[in-house]
Amino acid sequence: MNTLAPSPTMSSTAALSRTTLSIQGLSKLYAGGTQALDNVSIDVREGEFLVILGPSGAGKSTLMRCLNRLVEPSAGKVIHNGEEISGPNKNLREIRHRFGMVFQQFNLVKRLSVLTNVLTGRLAYRSAWRSLFYNFSQEDKRIAIECLARVNMDHKTFQRADTLSGGEQQRVAIARALAQKPRIILADEPVASLDPKIARQVLGYLKQVSQELGITVLCNLHQVDYAREFAERIVGMSRGAVVFQGSAAELTDNIIQRIYYRDASADADRGDNRGRDDE
Ligand SMILES: Nc1ncnc2c1ncn2[C@@H]1O[C@H](COP(=O)(O)OP(=O)(O)OP(=O)(O)O)[C@@H](O)[C@H]1O
Ligand SMILES: [Mg+2]
Repeated sequence: MNTLAPSPTMSSTAALSRTTLSIQGLSKLYAGGTQALDNVSIDVREGEFLVILGPSGAGKSTLMRCLNRLVEPSAGKVIHNGEEISGPNKNLREIRHRFGMVFQQFNLVKRLSVLTNVLTGRLAYRSAWRSLFYNFSQEDKRIAIECLARVNMDHKTFQRADTLSGGEQQRVAIARALAQKPRIILADEPVASLDPKIARQVLGYLKQVSQELGITVLCNLHQVDYAREFAERIVGMSRGAVVFQGSAAELTDNIIQRIYYRDASADADRGDNRGRDDE
């Protein structure tokens, strides 16, 4: 059985899909006074490849960390498939399990093989003692190799992770996220450390897995060109706030100006003094 086979109900026609993740009025005020998120509301559709676009400090990483509960929001709600996953008394392990993560620095275990790195994506499904000894079943290995094949890395299965190029490492990181069988992948600046040719290749794989497997992908980027090229929809963030939501075609130069060069003095004039100590 091909457990990663595309589902006909979750195709690239995300525009027709239901909302899977509803972010409602999310705010985060860090100790020290930085308002990293300011009343952020975004509805994400099932199977969508959504790019969160914004400059450094816009709050992109904070948003992702609030979704998988690495950071506690100060206000607002997150609803996943009709169930609130924010707020107290939640099973954090189970919530984190829903989100596959892809990071800028790949975060592979350097001295381990490609296969073992991808198998760590299966840890959530293993008992604690089996995890301790990296004791994986044949079924886990089959899933891991299938995930590697998705990103054309199955020919490097037994190579040590630290002998791979950056682009290859990120493809393995995508395979690791897939092995976790998440419904949503959060990719935080996944191509910021890669040259443009390889960056496009990696984004292409991410988009492909989204389209073929119906996995919803939220991808933080700061490069407008990549957002235009790959996003099905773009959310523009500036200084913690959503300032644009729309298609690549709707991302005009004026809007880019608003995302990247939003005037801090305009906020100050409105009496909005929220300790933007990073600018
Ligand atoms: N743990 C923290 N404690 C205090 N302030 C924080 C913390 N994490 C982030 N911030 C601040 O929150 C703001 C948003 O940071 P965040 O990392 O979410 O932005 P970003 O859009 O991901 O930026 P980048 O593109 O540089 O990764 C910044 O001003 C940052 O300094
Ligand atoms: Mg960030």
